[in-house]
Amino acid sequence: MILITGGAGYIGSHCSIEFLRNGFDVIVFDNFSLGHKKIIDNIMFNYPNIVLFQGDLRNKKDLDIVFRKYQIDAVVHLAAFSQVKQSILEPEVYYENNVLGTLNLLSSMVKNNVLKIIFSSSAAIYGEPSYIPVDETHPKNPINTYGKTKLVVENIMDDYDLAYGLKSIRLRYFNVLGANYKENIGEWHDVETHLLPNIIKSVLKSKFKFKIFGANYPTFDGTCIRDYIDVEDIAEAHRLAYNYLNKNNKTDVFNLGSQDGVSVKQMCNLVSKILDKKISIEYTSKRQGDCAILLADSSKAKKILNWKARNSISDSIYNAYQWEKILESFS
Ligand code: UFG
Repeated sequence: MILITGGAGYIGSHCSIEFLRNGFDVIVFDNFSLGHKKIIDNIMFNYPNIVLFQGDLRNKKDLDIVFRKYQIDAVVHLAAFSQVKQSILEPEVYYENNVLGTLNLLSSMVKNNVLKIIFSSSAAIYGEPSYIPVDETHPKNPINTYGKTKLVVENIMDDYDLAYGLKSIRLRYFNVLGANYKENIGEWHDVETHLLPNIIKSVLKSKFKFKIFGANYPTFDGTCIRDYIDVEDIAEAHRLAYNYLNKNNKTDVFNLGSQDGVSVKQMCNLVSKILDKKISIEYTSKRQGDCAILLADSSKAKKILNWKARNSISDSIYNAYQWEKILESFS
């Protein structure tokens, strides 16, 4: 069985379906602090054999119970807090949840002889790029607490490999978007901070104003450039990483991005064109912790994992829009 922590969250729910669809037995471990029970219900509708375990990584007892009760082959670890701004304001919460929670998880894994983990790392560990596109050997100088927590965890995993033979694949995602709206799952944050959902919300809700955070970055149009990658492609990479880990029993790290840079303004134009709607924009000051440009070199994942992004940015925008309408109907 595959244990997916944070399996009721945005990326975790897409990973859960990816594994279930490919014949794996999946247990979701989630405390529903950010994930939603309704997402699990929606998954269960098509995949009734998914198992849900409500637990918290900060509680060692929950982990011991789940590892003792089920025959777990590997862990896909996504449970984490991931808001850059909040991480700077509340470091204690981030270190406790992302670092201490993971430490508990790894220790419980070792105790129960589960020695394979796929870890949801982040492009945030690189910080301001010193060259573009960023490959896996790029220096790691995170500029926000969130990125620091992910880097600490990667380092802990190296030590656990040395000491206990625990093998990890770290997937460093760039900017994830899109949704599997046909199976009723997608991005659902009670406080939404991400670019695409906020642009779409401004289209769907007349009261919701979309704001661009900073228009004088050193980029061609003054707004931040990011590398956007579809959530279903990200989910597939987890399954490929699991297969790779199973076969090679070797710790490794892979960037996951599209290697196409899209600025915030370009994203607004794309959404406007695909949805045939006007986006009204308000300009505000820069958001703390944002770097001007982030672009992935994902050639290693393509070569070694045989991974390829299948969805175009237009597909992701369309799917996210369809999902956002479903989400509106929940409230
Ligand atoms: N942005 C706006 N307005 C908004 C939301 C975002 O202008 O309402 C801008 C941001 O300033 C940034 C870009 O859009 O320049 C993308 O912002 P997101 O919040 O969508 O994503 P981030 O780049 O901040 O962060 C995301 C994940 C992190 C991860 C990072 C890695 O949330 O967890 O990608 O690149 F670390």
